[in-house]
Amino acid sequence: TAMALSFEGRVVLVTGAGGGLGREYALAFAQRGASVVVNDLGGNTKGGGKSSAAADKVVEEIRAKGGKAVASYDSVEDGEKLIQSALERFGRIDVVVNNAGILRDRSFPRTSDVDWDLIHRIHLRGSFLVTRAAWDQMKKQKFGRIIMTASAAGIYGNFGQSNYSSAKLGLLGLANTLAIEGRKYNIHCNTVAPVAGSRLTETVMPPDLVASLKPEYVAPLVLWLCHEQCQENGGLFEVGAGWVGKLRWERSRGQIVRQKNRAMTPEAVRDGWDRICDFTDATKPSSVQESLQAFVSVLSQVDAGGQVEASPAAAAAAP
Ligand code: NAI
Repeated sequence: TAMALSFEGRVVLVTGAGGGLGREYALAFAQRGASVVVNDLGGNTKGGGKSSAAADKVVEEIRAKGGKAVASYDSVEDGEKLIQSALERFGRIDVVVNNAGILRDRSFPRTSDVDWDLIHRIHLRGSFLVTRAAWDQMKKQKFGRIIMTASAAGIYGNFGQSNYSSAKLGLLGLANTLAIEGRKYNIHCNTVAPVAGSRLTETVMPPDLVASLKPEYVAPLVLWLCHEQCQENGGLFEVGAGWVGKLRWERSRGQIVRQKNRAMTPEAVRDGWDRICDFTDATKPSSVQESLQAFVSVLSQVDAGGQVEASPAAAAAAP
């Protein structure tokens, strides 16, 4: 339909909305009628310091354009307080965009306990705390839209980002389960892996790329995923430069490397390796149930194989 997507009457919390992507999300939601809680601790990129200026500036920007916004300066580690701000000020919470983040890049052996813990506390635990605080309200409303912010570093790995990549892919695991637990309450949870110029990326990207990859080319995906019309749930998307793509898991057909009444050996795994890693006719399991089916089927296939002296190569491929 040609109808524009409105967020009139919706209350949206964007964490880390004092700059970069979060600021753009907050402006875009407000422009389409949402009441926005602009949360930002106002610290530096490594997790130090704090200031109310970052959030205040974005709230002013929104209000100057006639939008509805309120600032919140608490850390996502105080998840309850962020949701309280939304409830006290606007009476409900419809959308949570978990976006706040910091970086503490180090090669793996140089990663200190603090580098590890801070990254996990802000990204993974912070998103958990904020989202849990909103959950019951969303359940009561029979409506909720949640965004987790992952990263290509988590999906593919990236040198010097062991702390960050593990927290970022942890968020995908969290989202996978929230999508399942929220489904029957119309609470949907999706994950984005954005690419955009910001104070986080200006340390690792050339300046012209930082300038070209605008946060405006990411925000429309987040808005769509958070709209009541959008039925997407449990999805993972890469987004940037004006392009959006969806990711999913792929599983090879694999190889049965065990025979009835025989010990399973590492040599059989070695000899089956090409088949194990061959993605021809790969399947795309999308649930634990679907994943488990293959194992149950293997049990009966091995059992049906009898005690014949078949070579491992003669064993059938798993479904
Ligand atoms: P940014 O540094 O401009 O924005 C992050 C904001 O989060 C900052 O304003 C910061 O003050 C705030 N923040 C940090 N710790 C906080 C806390 N404890 N509580 C509340 N607010 C806090 O960076 P950018 O690039 O906009 O990043 C947004 C999100 O997107 C992050 O989660 C980042 O990891 C993720 N991301 C960004 C990519 C990019 O290309 N820009 C790539 C992949 C992921």
